[in-house]
Amino acid sequence: MYKNLIRPLLFKLDPEQVHYLTADTLKAAYKLPLAKSICSNMFTVQDKRLERELFGLKFPNPVGLAAGFDKDARLIDEFTSFGFGFIEIGTLTPKPQAGNDKPRLFRLPSDQAIINRMGFNNEGVDAAVTRLRNRKSKVIVGGNIGKNKITPNEQALSDYLYCFKALYEVVDYFVVNVSSPNTPDLRALQEKEPLQQLLLALQEQNNRMPQPKPLLLKIAPDLNEHQLNDIIEIAIEANLSGLIATNTTISRDGLHTPAGRVSAIGAGGLSGKPLTKHSTEIIRYLRQHLPPQIKIIGVGGIMSAADALEKLDAGADLVQLYTGFIYEGPGLISQINRKLLDRVK
Ligand code: FNR
Repeated sequence: MYKNLIRPLLFKLDPEQVHYLTADTLKAAYKLPLAKSICSNMFTVQDKRLERELFGLKFPNPVGLAAGFDKDARLIDEFTSFGFGFIEIGTLTPKPQAGNDKPRLFRLPSDQAIINRMGFNNEGVDAAVTRLRNRKSKVIVGGNIGKNKITPNEQALSDYLYCFKALYEVVDYFVVNVSSPNTPDLRALQEKEPLQQLLLALQEQNNRMPQPKPLLLKIAPDLNEHQLNDIIEIAIEANLSGLIATNTTISRDGLHTPAGRVSAIGAGGLSGKPLTKHSTEIIRYLRQHLPPQIKIIGVGGIMSAADALEKLDAGADLVQLYTGFIYEGPGLISQINRKLLDRVK
C-alpha cells in the first residue's frame, strides 16, 4: 500500500514539507483510539529470537531508526509502534539552530537516494530532554550529539559535554557525531588528535556519572584505510562501546540521475542505494579489525531485507534505516525481521 498508494502522493510534494506533514499526520492519527494497537499489530514482529543483547542493553529486534529523522524526539511513541527495536534522536546541539537555507533536501528517485544539507536543524537539546521525560514508550533511545555551527572546533568539546550531561538521564546510549558533511569543518574532528581528545574527555565525563552509558562514534563513509585504522585505535583507547557506520557520503559516483541535475542540487550528503555496498564494506573492514567488545551498528542504503542481512553478515550487530524507510515505508522493518526469523527456522 505504501509504495503503490502513499509514496506516489508524497513524492509529488516538496521533500521537507512531506517530512513535517508526515510527522503531523502521525501525531494526529496516533491520538485516535486503537491507532497505536492497529499500527503495532500491522508492523511489529515480536519474537525472542530477534532479541539482541549488547553493551548492557536488550534490543527487542536489531532494526533501528537512524539519526536525523526524529531529531527533536517528537515521534518516539509513534515510531515505536512501527516496530523499530530502537530509535536514535538528534543530532542535537546545545542551542537551537535553524540549519542551512532551504531547499536543502532532495530526492533522486532514479537512484533511490536522497541528498541533504540540513545542517543540524534542531530545537536544541533541552527541548528534546523535556519531550523524552514525557514519553510513554520504553523503547531504547540513542542520543546523537553534535556541536552548534557557530561553535569553533577548538571549543567543540564543551558543546558535546553540554549535550551529554543534558541527555544523560533520558537516553540509553550516546552517539558522537563528527561525520556530518553539512556543518562546516565538523569532519575535521574525525582526525586523529582532535578525535582522541574529544572521545577521551567525553568518556572521562561518562565514567564520572553514577552509571556510565554506552558511548558510540558515528563515522563517515569517505574515510580511507589509514583514517579507519586511526579510528579503530582511538575506539579501543577511549573504550568505546561501538561504532556506527556510516553517515551520508560526499561522493556522487555511479549515480543514474543526470549529472546536470546532480550538480544543480549542489553540496550535501548522499544516502540510500548508492551507499549500500560501500558502507557494507566499511562494516566488514571494521569487524575484521575491531576487538569483539566494540560493537557495530550498520547503516547506509538498507533498501531491502537482503541489504540488512548483508550488513549483519558483514559484522553489524544492529542496523538502522533512514532513506529505505522513506522509499519503502514502514513495512521494511517487519520485512527485515521476518527474513531474520526465516533464517533461524
Ligand atoms: C541524515 N543523517 C543524519 N545522521 C546523523 O548522525 N545526524 C543527523 O542529524 C542526520 N540527519 C540526516 C538527515 C537526512 C535528511 C538524512 C537523509 C540523513 C544520516 C543518517 O542517519 C544515515 O546515517 C544515512 O542517511 C545513511 O543511511 P540511509 O539513509 O542510506 O539508510
